[in-house]
Amino acid sequence: MNHLTTSLGEYDLVRFPEDPRDRLRAWDAADEYLLRHLEGTGDTPPADLSGTVVVVGDRWGALATALAGCRPTQVTDSFLAQQATRLNLERNGADPSAVRLLSTREAPPERIDVLLIRVPKSLALLEDQLHRLAPHVHAGTVVVGTGMTKEIHTSTLRLFERLLGTTRTSLAVKKARLIFCTPDPDLARGSDPWPRSYALPSDVGVVSGITVTNHAGIFCAERLDIGTRFFLRHLPRSRGPERVADLGCGNGVVGTAVALANPEAEILFTDESFQAVASAEATFRANAGAGRKAEFRVGDGLSGVPEGTVDLVLNNPPFHSHQATTDATARRMFTGARDALRPGGELWVIGNRHLGYHVTLRRIFGNSELVASDPKFVVLRSVKR
Ligand SMILES: C[S@@+](CC[C@H](N)C(=O)[O-])C[C@H]1O[C@@H](n2cnc3c(N)ncnc32)[C@H](O)[C@@H]1O
Repeated sequence: MNHLTTSLGEYDLVRFPEDPRDRLRAWDAADEYLLRHLEGTGDTPPADLSGTVVVVGDRWGALATALAGCRPTQVTDSFLAQQATRLNLERNGADPSAVRLLSTREAPPERIDVLLIRVPKSLALLEDQLHRLAPHVHAGTVVVGTGMTKEIHTSTLRLFERLLGTTRTSLAVKKARLIFCTPDPDLARGSDPWPRSYALPSDVGVVSGITVTNHAGIFCAERLDIGTRFFLRHLPRSRGPERVADLGCGNGVVGTAVALANPEAEILFTDESFQAVASAEATFRANAGAGRKAEFRVGDGLSGVPEGTVDLVLNNPPFHSHQATTDATARRMFTGARDALRPGGELWVIGNRHLGYHVTLRRIFGNSELVASDPKFVVLRSVKR
């Protein structure tokens, strides 16, 4: 079940965090297709992987682990993907330093000879990444993209064409497709439109009208989410010096609202997306006033936050992991919140009514109270006893 077999070797791969109930594999047909292409087929020779190899958007480290022998650099927006890569390298006996782990916020290697791109779900993230990578490729760089056919659209190919050079696609195999691109160093690309900002509407309390910053690919980068909008109108009243966690902070709008309502609150902004934490920091700094302190942390939920050190956790949990709908992340976020809270501390959650978070919260906290609701959303409050 966990074994990926290629001519490079056989790999035992898992997702992060490992969950025995999770039957999902750590790679898919798009990863296999790319690896098979690099190994060479009847018609194509093996790819020359002797130069600087960069792997972008590898979901669970399957590509980086299989290619560890050529000491690639991995570029990802996801802390969970980085953790999965570390775990999979270790499980497969690879030298942990074989893969250089870079986030999307860091500068790519100066010169890239082989650029392998797992097409991300977000076209905006692809656009931003291609803008950042393009100055580092040269006319001889081998560029191969991969994705499931449902992830590759005409707009995806147009981006490659517009930002890197002439682009064509392969035949589909097991519903996956490859993208081949010949870089044109003289292409006029224009400038990267990311990050973008927008002003909040006038009915969201203390943050009404403020401008929020959004790096590419983050949740609701173009406009405020309707659930978040409802949450902003029902946040707890300010309560003196308290430590507040904006868990899964996205662009930081929720934590910034608390900071503006309560000058004594100290906010911890945390998310597993590097782009999100950078956005939250920009939003907070632009609106909270000079000298206001806050902590910005990329990580998995609240893991690593010492137990009993937080007074209030605010959370709009995700209910998708890549294409799959799941409440696994919400459950882990709630459990992490319970551990990080001090006795008497509170977790406030916004969710779609149909997700039934009150049941999960009752199981984890022993209590859950309805604070506000409309036909679509509920705001729930659980207290750590
Ligand atoms: C529904 S969005 C909410 C964003 C923001 N709080 C808002 O309301 O606009 C959920 C956020 O959780 C983040 N996330 C997903 N899994 C996570 C994890 N394991 N640890 C921390 N954050 C995570 C996502 O990157 C995303 O920014």
